[in-house]
Amino acid sequence: MVADSAQQLMADFDHIRNDFPVLATQMNGKPLAFLDSAASAQKPKAVIDAMNKVLEGGYSNIHRGLYSISQQLTADFEGVRSKVAAFINASTEKEIVFTRNSTESINLIAQSWARTHMEEGDEVILTEMEHHANIVPWQILERQIGIQIKVVPIFDDGSLDLESFETLLSEKTKLVSVVHISNATGVANPVNKINKIAKAFNPKIKVLVDGSQGVVHGKVDVQKLDCDFYVFTGHKLYGPSGIGILYGKYDILDGMSPYQGGGDMIERVSFDGTTFKEPPYRFEAGTPAIVEVIGLGAAIDYITAIGFEALEARENELRDYAHERLKEIEGLKLFGTAADKIGIFSFTLEDIHTSDAGMILDQCGVAVRAGHHCCMPLMQRFGVEGTIRASLGLYSNKADIDQLIDGLKKVKELFG
Ligand code: ALA
Repeated sequence: MVADSAQQLMADFDHIRNDFPVLATQMNGKPLAFLDSAASAQKPKAVIDAMNKVLEGGYSNIHRGLYSISQQLTADFEGVRSKVAAFINASTEKEIVFTRNSTESINLIAQSWARTHMEEGDEVILTEMEHHANIVPWQILERQIGIQIKVVPIFDDGSLDLESFETLLSEKTKLVSVVHISNATGVANPVNKINKIAKAFNPKIKVLVDGSQGVVHGKVDVQKLDCDFYVFTGHKLYGPSGIGILYGKYDILDGMSPYQGGGDMIERVSFDGTTFKEPPYRFEAGTPAIVEVIGLGAAIDYITAIGFEALEARENELRDYAHERLKEIEGLKLFGTAADKIGIFSFTLEDIHTSDAGMILDQCGVAVRAGHHCCMPLMQRFGVEGTIRASLGLYSNKADIDQLIDGLKKVKELFG
């Protein structure tokens, strides 16, 4: 998308709303102001159509059929693998593993890489702002083989304390696993710098980046980033749920054992022993999420056609607008005020319970998330049970934000 003025850019994006059928609907008799895209984004018609097309006009299993529709769908499915590789600039599509979501990607790394490459006393470094998906798999490994978890603290503005990170690195550090952009506050981490610091300390340390939000809000280049693993999920990227991505450097994937055993990941099976396929197929046991992969491909085409330059410009403009308007709400406390942040606003309203606020906003047609956002340790760090979170998507507009502000005024009137 090429826009030659800020006004034109806003107009182009307002037009984009028409691509998302759900945005024309109402919630509780009010226009739907969907401000929960960080939880899961809405889907453009292009994604819905691509998935319907497979279901209505050529569905079959893949990698197994000798007949035409199976071969066509296999080619389309594998075409998405190449599309994902190009989208994040992986050096080959063999570095792209289809999983269910970011959570499964991280669990796969924990069980297939870390469980064999780490031993008792070895350390993984996480941060205080991690999603449970990047905490619990490491705690399971802690119980299984006795690894140690170290946690990088954050400052009050939600940004990472990089000096502390450096002091946590030790000869026992085997892995640094860090979120690219916090789903709870929208604050971005300097993942490039984190990777460089870790590798300068010890080139053997592996770096895993949870890109669930990162991949949605800016161009990701895994080769430039030079991280070892990068994971994300389809449903936050305007694609379907049930499909996620694990990017791993090929030589690392090649040295990993399978995560699950079953069909499609083997070369030969006998009761005397089984041999496995090469990556990425070694990690894809069973029939995959065929239709969802096709949907993800359509989502990537959709975003690529808009382009991250336009997308970021629009998002920054709306982020600043929302930031200004939220200042109108007396007693609103924002968490995650660091400069480098995206359009995710996490806040409390004095002692008003977040669920009460969420319920009133629902009545006003405003969809937000209220609670801990799967980041309980971060909430504990901020000294709150939870927050109200409004998160923008590429279809968000000023009217959505105005509706949120009106809704928050109503919440204040009723509970303040
Ligand atoms: N991780 C999702 C969120 O941020 C569900 O709400």
